[in-house]
Parts: sequence; structure tokens; C-alpha cells
Amino acid sequence: MDWKVSEREETGDVLVLPLWKGKNKPANSALNGLPRSSVINTKSAFKSRFDGKTGSNLSVWGEKCRVVLVGMGDSEKSSNKVARDAGAKTLSSLSKKDGTNLTVRFTSGWNLDSMLWFIEGMMLRDYAFVKYRSKDRKEREEQGEWSLDIQASSRYLKELSAGITRIVGRVEGVHLARDLANEPPNYLYPMSYAERATEWAKDKPNVIVEVYDWDDLQDKGMYGLINVGKGSSRKPCMVLFTLNPNANSKERSPCIVGKGITFDTGGISLKPGASMDEMKYDMHGAATVFGLMHALYATGHKGRVRAIACLAENMPSAEAYRPGDVIPTYSGKTIEVLNTDAEGRNVLADGLWKSGEFDPSYIIDLATLTGAVVVSLGHEASGLWSNNSELLEKVHQAGNKEDEIAWKMPLLPAFEKEMTGSKIADVRNLGKSRWGGANTAAAFLKQFVPNRNFDEEGEQIPWAHLDIAGTAWGATTNAMVGHGATGIHVRTLHTLITNSD
Ligand code: BES
Ligand code: MN
Ligand code: ZN
Repeated sequence: MDWKVSEREETGDVLVLPLWKGKNKPANSALNGLPRSSVINTKSAFKSRFDGKTGSNLSVWGEKCRVVLVGMGDSEKSSNKVARDAGAKTLSSLSKKDGTNLTVRFTSGWNLDSMLWFIEGMMLRDYAFVKYRSKDRKEREEQGEWSLDIQASSRYLKELSAGITRIVGRVEGVHLARDLANEPPNYLYPMSYAERATEWAKDKPNVIVEVYDWDDLQDKGMYGLINVGKGSSRKPCMVLFTLNPNANSKERSPCIVGKGITFDTGGISLKPGASMDEMKYDMHGAATVFGLMHALYATGHKGRVRAIACLAENMPSAEAYRPGDVIPTYSGKTIEVLNTDAEGRNVLADGLWKSGEFDPSYIIDLATLTGAVVVSLGHEASGLWSNNSELLEKVHQAGNKEDEIAWKMPLLPAFEKEMTGSKIADVRNLGKSRWGGANTAAAFLKQFVPNRNFDEEGEQIPWAHLDIAGTAWGATTNAMVGHGATGIHVRTLHTLITNSD
């Protein structure tokens, strides 16, 4: 999407006027630049039909320009969600058949934050995965991109411009995450993710991408990844990102870890057939990691940030790992495999342990880890667990700010006891019953979060776990997304990381 900011003078093919309730008289500058007939028609629409209530949208057709009045509701009740949702819904209601030059004009009642949220909503919603739909793809190519002219009072223009530049970088990151997660599993598999990451890093001097391939995993003893991935002809790998490797080298920096199961059949503990296709999204944690790194890069983040994607395809075959197997991991701890479909935690075990080598300020993992979290929270919130109350609160707050809700969940000692109660290995990969399945999964992961300097007596590194199984796709209430992957938590983590150093 092309964009610029300007004063309220000219209009494009379509003029979007988002208006707060009670402001049902056109502000002085609202109708600037419209032909006389449009001004008359719009004014009469204001008088008779438009009251600014939420969702009370009205189109006024004119010769040169279509005017779209968007009801924003009560300005006192405004929030980041109200403004972002309104922007997203407005964009999805427009058709490029009316022309692609879009003017969004903010008048009375709008402040800088709300304007930015509205535009962010529009930009986030401007996405469709049409790559493999010949007709849609052709149509999109023919119609071209939206060209957005954002208009407000001159005193806002400078800050608006800076704010939107930042938003564009974040939206690129979100859309990249969606692209990766939407990609079909025959195209996106562990090593093709690695190739994309390597390609992305190529012309970026302050980015390093390192890939541990099959042989490297063997050399390092990363048997969590190896075992989950060995049933597939597409072999597993680990992708390690570093942004700004040379930044303030004495300071600790965060490390983000993503589950990247490019397809989850369940393995030998095969999943039932219904909706199994959706398990292509089982790498959304790794997609978010990649999208986040891009967002940080594109917005010029100066601090060092590390990320690790744990990639494997979970397939049944003669080579596959099985229930009953005991597998070693990078940490040295052993896992009793009781269900090969609880595979995400096995690959994350290696990723989390690896993070410790960077002596990170904190570790956050993202994973489409359990169906149980979807039972708990539906598609409305990710589950959030942490061993550190300060980090827990920070991630929660960042999620609220971005309307990507991360709901606090309990990391109870009883769950840890349950998961470390194997008779034959250090940790079991399945709870003793199906109850509290998202909590036992989190408790499993905690066993693989290293202490500082791997000191046995030392303190565990602050860590948070986001179970995004319900939020990575499938929410009909998420106005930012038409269909498919959401790009969840790219914005949450971008906000968390860029606001804390
Ligand atoms: N990727 C799934 C979790 C999942 C299920 C995400 C449905 C989104 C929608 C994960 O690997 C899995 O299969 N988990 C099992 C764990 C169980 C065997 C302990 C589950 O949730 O059933
Ligand atoms: Mn599984
Ligand atoms: Zn899975």
C-alpha cells in the first residue's frame, strides 16, 4: 500500500470520513475538494441518515468521488480496538472497482494515537493470500495496490508520518508471518523456511541467519528436533536469527523461540482426518519469529535481538519416532514419548535450551502447542505462562495494547510434578490425564528453560510461553484478518521489545 500524508484539500477516487457520534455536521474541512454536487449530497446524508453510531456506515455516490461516512461511535468510549477495528472493517468494505486512490480524512475528535490505530487497522486488513488463485491473483495485479492519502490538520502531519512509517514496518512483519503460515505444506517445509530466512538476511548487514541442518543437529545432539522430524523425507532444522549482533555487547538481549512444525499429522499417534489440513499452521510460532525479526529490522530497531525457529515435519513412516521411545535432548535431559502428537514440546526443548547459550535477558516462546488452550480460551486469547511475574505482566500489557490478548495461565508446581513423574525418563511428554492439557504442556517446557550460565544452583532465566493454538488462525472476530493465518503477536513482541530498551 502506497501512502502519504497531506492537508485536507484534495480528494482521491474515494473519500473516507470516519466520524465520532454527535459530530454529525461536517467539520469545516471535511468536504474540501469535493465537487459541489457531492458536497450537497453528503450534507443531506448527514442531516437525514448519518448519526455516527458504531457501524452506521453510509456511502454517498458522486460523479468524481465516492464519499464513505464511517460511524465511530462515542469518542469517550474509544480505544485502540475501536479505532483499529473500524479501520480494518472500512478497508474490507471498499472495492478497488471504485478506484484505488483512497483519501482518509480525519477531522474533529481524532488524536494522533487513534488516527494511527485506524490506519494500522486498514493496513493490516489489506492482505489476501491469492498466490495460488489464478483469477484473484490476476485481478489484484491488474487493479494494483491501494494508494492512501492520509489527511489531518497540519499540526499532526509530521508525527503522523513518523508513526505511519513505523506501522508500515510492523505490518510488513505481520504480513510476512501470514505468508509463511498460509503457505501450503508441500511448499513450506523446514529447509524451505531456512532458505527463505537466508535469502531475507542476504542484503541486510545487521542481520545474521544461521541454519543447523540435519548433520548439524546430529553433531550437536539436538534429538528433540531429530526425533520429531526423522519420519519425514523433509528433514528438520533449526534457524537462528540475530539482529544487530554488534549492538551494546555488554547488555543482555531477548531471545524469541518459535515452534515450527510445517505439518503436524500427529506422527504414529496419527490425528483424525477432520481439518487435518489446518495443521499446516502448526509452524505459526516460527512464522511469528520471522515476521517479528522483519518488523524489528524494518522499523530500525537498534538493540540486539535473537530468535530461534525449531522446524520439523511430524510424519508417520518406518523412520518415525514412536510412543514408548525415550529420546535424549540437547539439554541432556531425556523425554519419555507417550504420544508422538505432543511433538511441539519436544522440538522446543532443544530451542529453549539453546537460548540459554546467549545469556538472554529473557526468553519468550510461541507455539501452536495444544488443542486444550483452544478449549480454555477459544479463539479470543493466547494462553500466557511465565516463571517471572514482571515478564508476565509486561507481555500481558503489550498484548492489551495491540489487542492481541495474552491471558495469564497458571504454572503450578503440581503440573511440573506430573510431567517429571516418568518412571523411565526425566520428563514425560504427556500429562497423566487429559485435564489441564495446556498447563501440563507449559510445565513440560519449563523443564527445558536453563538457569543463568547453566548453573545448577542458579536462577532460571525469565521465560514466558505463549500458546497460540487458538489465535494463529480461525477467529471470526478478528477484524484484521479476512481468512487464514493471523500473524499473531508480531505486534505484541515488537511493542514489548522496542519499548523496553
Ligand atoms: N499442533 C497441535 C495442537 C493444536 C491442535 C493446535 C489443534 C491447534 C489446533 C499439537 O501438536 C498437538 O497435537 N497437541 C496435542 C497434545 C496432546 C497429544 C497431549 C493435542 O492438543 O491434542
Ligand atoms: Mn501434534
Ligand atoms: Zn503440533
